[in-house]
Amino acid sequence: MATERTLSIIKPDATKRNLTGKINAKFEDAGLRIVAQKRIKLSSEQAGKFYEVHKERPFYGELVEFMASEPVVVQVLEGEGAIAKNREVMGATNPADAAEGTIRKEFALSVGENTVHGSDAPETAAQEIAFFFSGLELVG
Ligand code: TYD
Repeated sequence: MATERTLSIIKPDATKRNLTGKINAKFEDAGLRIVAQKRIKLSSEQAGKFYEVHKERPFYGELVEFMASEPVVVQVLEGEGAIAKNREVMGATNPADAAEGTIRKEFALSVGENTVHGSDAPETAAQEIAFFFSGLELVG
């Protein structure tokens, strides 16, 4: 399997509870390397743009408000099959369905406040990495 990069976000429910280090340890234990990382506070406009694909969904307004409520940590994870591997480490969207040992099983508060975001395909990973990081921030 090829080396890939994926975009990860440690969401407001987790930064608020000071869980960044514990979550990063889960990524690293799974063989994912954090090759870029920064802590930022999204505006509602930025959060809305990032989640534009969900614009018509009933939870969109709440999702945008939540993502702009506290700082987030945006990061690029790299590794063999990093996109799928990250989704595996994250666990199911709803923590009630998430497998033992996953980040969402351990830390998520609800389907909305679910601790982490991870790109779901190579095309979205490329778009989402470019949304947050410039070429200069992505060293090889
Ligand atoms: P989605 O892309 O379906 O899940 P994932 O984050 O696992 O890729 O949804 C994006 C986010 O939208 C999800 O992480 C939390 C929020 N969301 C809700 O608040 N309620 C819902 O019923 C769903 C499906 C998602």
